[in-house]
Amino acid sequence: MITASSTPQDGARSTADQATGPLLELAANENPLGMPSGAREAAAAALAGSDRYPDPTGARLRAVLAQRLGVAPDWLTLGSGSSEILTLTAQALVSPGQAIVSSQYGFVVYGQAATLVHARHVQVPAGADFGHDLAAMRAAIDGQTRLVYIANPNNPTGNLIDPAQLLDFVAHLPPQVSVLLDEAYTEYLTPQQRYDSIDWVRRFPRLIVARTFSKAYGLAGLRVGYGVAQPALGGRLNALRPRFNVTTPALAAATAALEDTDFLARSHALNVAGRDQLARGCQALGLRCPPSAGNFVMVEVGDAARVHAAMLQQGIAVSPLQAYGLPGWLRVSVGLPEQNERVLAALAAARPAAAARTDPA
Ligand SMILES: Cc1ncc(COP(=O)(O)O)c(C=O)c1O
Repeated sequence: MITASSTPQDGARSTADQATGPLLELAANENPLGMPSGAREAAAAALAGSDRYPDPTGARLRAVLAQRLGVAPDWLTLGSGSSEILTLTAQALVSPGQAIVSSQYGFVVYGQAATLVHARHVQVPAGADFGHDLAAMRAAIDGQTRLVYIANPNNPTGNLIDPAQLLDFVAHLPPQVSVLLDEAYTEYLTPQQRYDSIDWVRRFPRLIVARTFSKAYGLAGLRVGYGVAQPALGGRLNALRPRFNVTTPALAAATAALEDTDFLARSHALNVAGRDQLARGCQALGLRCPPSAGNFVMVEVGDAARVHAAMLQQGIAVSPLQAYGLPGWLRVSVGLPEQNERVLAALAAARPAAAARTDPA
């Protein structure tokens, strides 16, 4: 059986390969441009020194990042992907029996982090548009709550929270509650959508912003992310952080990737156009596709298990959202223009016959 995670081994080609060429992976919100060439070269060069342990402080990457963000290096915690920042935060702040609040349709790692620290995970019903209902989340906070996870934009729904509302939420929390603002997709925001969350970190000692090199920077397989927090809080994360959690090639690649602003700009432009292409194509097929601020869209296809399987048969892996409580939906990562076309063609082919018949010619 072909699955999204199946990888051909030792030169063997999977069934999808034989029928349709290599599996088109659009299930994990990676960058279709790959990684910046400078990052690839830096990682390859860093292999030479990888018989030694990595720099446990990640000093060079933190220095470059700190300068970029306008904070001191001790405001930064490096993680093996931002997933590790998410779990370290729960480990640092939440004791067994205490509570973590997040929104329905939130990233899967929030629940895993709650399980890891034996906390109660309170998932607050989303608003009508699948987005965070901040008023309901505020109301769900009780005396046992220690941490709130908020993803902006959210995965898998693509929602973006209005910055003024988000700031108001952060500014009016009980003193024992911290917020982890998960900005894994922040580089994809348009200039009009951007807001200065690092400035909020300067103002609020209980705010942590988590970001990653996995998405727009194209380094998903190298596993590098970071948290930004004031040193009193960041120091607690750093104290728990495994000493060598980011490898030497990963540190080198992330540092080089930060230099390549042209790559980031190209990734951004490609994403805006591709997301629009997918949204318009879905609309033309009569499929619901809410606006997304990330590098993915969510599409309502009805029998998602069937459509997912049909797409796999055509050599395209997208993400079913049953585990998120969205059984009729698929999440499609934005690809290159021709890849997006393949997705749309596969969606058109997989539609129920009745829907296809009512299609205008
Ligand atoms: C909302 C969100 N946060 C965090 C992550 C974690 O990414 P990584 O651990 O690769 O940095 C992801 C990855 O898909 C995500 O969608």
